[in-house]
Amino acid sequence: NWTMSNFVDQEISRIRKLVGEKGQVIGAVSGGVDSTVAAKLMKEAIGDRFHAVLVDNGVMRLNECQQVQQMLQEHLNINLTIVDGSKRFLDGLKGITEPEKKRKFIGNLFIDLFEEEAIRIEKAAENTPNAGKVEFFLQGTLYPDVIESISFKGPSATIKTHHNVGGLPARMMNGQGLKLIEPLRELFKDEVRELGRQLGIPEDLVMRHPFPGPGIAIRIIGEVTPERVEIARKADHIFISMIKEAGIYNEMSQAYAGVDTNKAVGVMGDNRVYGYIIILRAVTTTDFMTAEAYEFDFALLRKIATRIVNEVDGVSRVTYDITSKPPGTIELE
Ligand code: XMP
Repeated sequence: NWTMSNFVDQEISRIRKLVGEKGQVIGAVSGGVDSTVAAKLMKEAIGDRFHAVLVDNGVMRLNECQQVQQMLQEHLNINLTIVDGSKRFLDGLKGITEPEKKRKFIGNLFIDLFEEEAIRIEKAAENTPNAGKVEFFLQGTLYPDVIESISFKGPSATIKTHHNVGGLPARMMNGQGLKLIEPLRELFKDEVRELGRQLGIPEDLVMRHPFPGPGIAIRIIGEVTPERVEIARKADHIFISMIKEAGIYNEMSQAYAGVDTNKAVGVMGDNRVYGYIIILRAVTTTDFMTAEAYEFDFALLRKIATRIVNEVDGVSRVTYDITSKPPGTIELE
């Protein structure tokens, strides 16, 4: 009979068997509930032979990397290494406008940086009691990620390449390079949250909205430039802070501010300005396969729009996306 604590015990012993006495594991940690739960399980299973790494891909949210590092240290006693890849990511994203190319590029470089870090960890562990090969790569992939990416519908019907599933380089799928460990591969989001609570993960982290691997790159329609990343970050920060202050964060499943491709004209004081268009999106869903736009209080939405236009340089308009999924998706790309 399946229970959450059986699951924890079984997973821990499965991980121990798989990794062996000497093996080391490198884990992708983003600060979301999935990767945090996966990291906590791994830490319980193999202790310091687990290395938690956050790759800064240049498209994380405002101050996010440092906050995640601090939170993991404080609450879970997990020492998170931040690998700064922001320049390599942003340089490589230059000129890419097609959504699938963006995802592939980010997914590939992400894995390259993990492989480089794995080599560094092996070298640093030489001649210590922890010496051993870094053979495994931990990801917090959930069941819905698996079905939406490499689904029963076959490759031609693949909706999007999730970078933590189908978007991985071929070498990881054919046994060369790092081998994947995905302890949450059979769980749904609500099960992972319950598991997180049992593992002592703080409630605000357990209830955190999901954040995609390709970050705000798939919330910026068209080319990702440092300027547009900056604008998306600031607008998103205002949006999410106001949602939290209003006490409605947990009423929605996911929310963010994205940036449209084109600019629009507006007036600021006596001047005409030509600025970016912010797209706010907030949805409710249970399984992330279908979703509804969150029914915002209009007065609050208006206040949010005013603050974004006033406080974020380069923005002339704010829109609210009311599309359901389907036909829309939760992310913009
Ligand atoms: P969509 O946009 O497909 O999103 O309706 C459904 C859920 O999946 C997340 N998502 C991703 N997560 N890598 C991820 O790790 C990805 O490439 C990716 N694309 C979408 C999205 O945030 C939402 O929760």
